[in-house]
Amino acid sequence: MRSPHHPRSRLPVAVANWKMYLSAAESVRAAEGLRALVGTLSRRMEIVVCPSFPMLSAVRQALGQSRILLGAQDVHAELRGPFTGDVSVDHVRAHVRYVIVGHSERRQHHGETDAAVQGKTARVLTAGLHPIVCVGETAEERDRGDTIKKIRSQVATIVENLPVLDLPRLLFAYEPIWAISAGPNSPAEQPEPREVVEVVGLIRKVASDIGKPRYASQMRVLYGGSVTARSVRPFVSEPGVDGVLVGGASTKPAEFAGIIKEILACVPSH
Ligand code: PGA
Repeated sequence: MRSPHHPRSRLPVAVANWKMYLSAAESVRAAEGLRALVGTLSRRMEIVVCPSFPMLSAVRQALGQSRILLGAQDVHAELRGPFTGDVSVDHVRAHVRYVIVGHSERRQHHGETDAAVQGKTARVLTAGLHPIVCVGETAEERDRGDTIKKIRSQVATIVENLPVLDLPRLLFAYEPIWAISAGPNSPAEQPEPREVVEVVGLIRKVASDIGKPRYASQMRVLYGGSVTARSVRPFVSEPGVDGVLVGGASTKPAEFAGIIKEILACVPSH
């Protein structure tokens, strides 16, 4: 295993994407459970929980004074307008520091294009929050050898249209679509850590080439796809991988706490 390397300017982060897995009561219980397990953990990493929109306020209350942060699972690119059922960044900014945008499930079920994801990313940045932009290839694209092409174009669309000064606040999550689990107990196949390192390096290179290396080097890049406490270590101990975006396993507080402890074990304590 290579030596862990997390520059101070890139704080490791574990993001829980609860998707639509938990009921209202279960969301509050999961938040209470996490608070008890990891609410006072060290300042060497960030922990972010992304519940369903209507649960943001209750989950925030359940997290109390803990150091666990909140994120939203999506927002609309516009601030206001005739968009039935959509949520504006204005509605969530009092609660959250992070917003996931461009998740493959949004792209697949809601037809979100790269251009739409770019609009959301810009909106989140303008609101002073951190967007977590998801990118990743389908199984067919991987089999055709098109992974690099796909990621390059997804990342370029985002970065080309942003001020370079915003790059340090931006996060990318590399989530191969074929690696995303079908549920908390149905993990999918995972890529090799070296494949993740290659794509994470590509993401940072595209951002450096389009933006500026100085700013792109501060941008955090995460891995996501069937991460569990057992599988996380080889990914986060690689240089350049700054944390994980976790779906199914993050709905179980003990499992997510296990992931967090594995990440902390890879972070230098000085
Ligand atoms: P998973 O989901 O951990 O359940 O594979 C990750 C994600 O979709 O963000």
